Amino acid sequence: MRSSANSRKPFAGRWMLASVGLLLVCAGCRLDMHTQPRYNPYDPTDFFNDGQSARLPVAGTMPRGELTLGPQELIFTGKLNGQPSEAFPYPVTKEIVERGRERFNIFCAPCHGLSGDGDGMIVQRGFRRPPSLHEDRVRTEPVGHYFDVITNGFGVMYAYGYRVPARDRWAIIAYVRALQLSRQAPIADVPDAEREKLAGKSK
Ligand code: HEC
Repeated sequence: MRSSANSRKPFAGRWMLASVGLLLVCAGCRLDMHTQPRYNPYDPTDFFNDGQSARLPVAGTMPRGELTLGPQELIFTGKLNGQPSEAFPYPVTKEIVERGRERFNIFCAPCHGLSGDGDGMIVQRGFRRPPSLHEDRVRTEPVGHYFDVITNGFGVMYAYGYRVPARDRWAIIAYVRALQLSRQAPIADVPDAEREKLAGKSK
């Protein structure tokens, strides 16, 4: 049997050394990280003439990875001169609508349903039912309103601005417009060949 007095001494010594070492290491980190010169958001400064530490991007800076066609206010807020825009910021192509369908099915359909009726899976599991996107009041809202709803949220609906880039928000709106048109288009808009198929199926 070992005597406890003998075995404890070197053990305690090693602990002491380790803790002193650890202390030194930690103290080293603290000094470096805590003394660096930096500003908190909106801190004033003497360094720049306007007294502000927050800087604007250099004039003429172009955003990367976002759209740069058309008026910036419209592209990023859905508004023109502060009013919700009635028009898209650029022409809608088939590719944009297809991209919109993909994004809508990912981000919106869980609540709004694949066809926009408001019966998505999350709603079936108890989340508040959104209005149908085919309802007259919703259908007649300008595209700028949709952009605002997606960007900033609406009532209990979450904001998607930070998850869905502006170009995809516009694509989603283009697809929502296609969904809405699918229930409003007059029969005259349907090509002859397709019309026959519809006639066969009409209720
Ligand atoms: C988590 C569920 C959920 C998701 C996901 C969701 N919404 Fe909604 N949305 C709602 C609810 C609920 C409302 C009704 C909110 C209220 O009235 O409080 C709503 C309202 C709306 C409205 C109607 C605004 C009005 O003027 O009445 C639009 C348009 C809309 N959403 C579009 C979208 C689009 C586009 C997406 C995808 C980017 C989306 N929503 C994703 C739940 C959702």
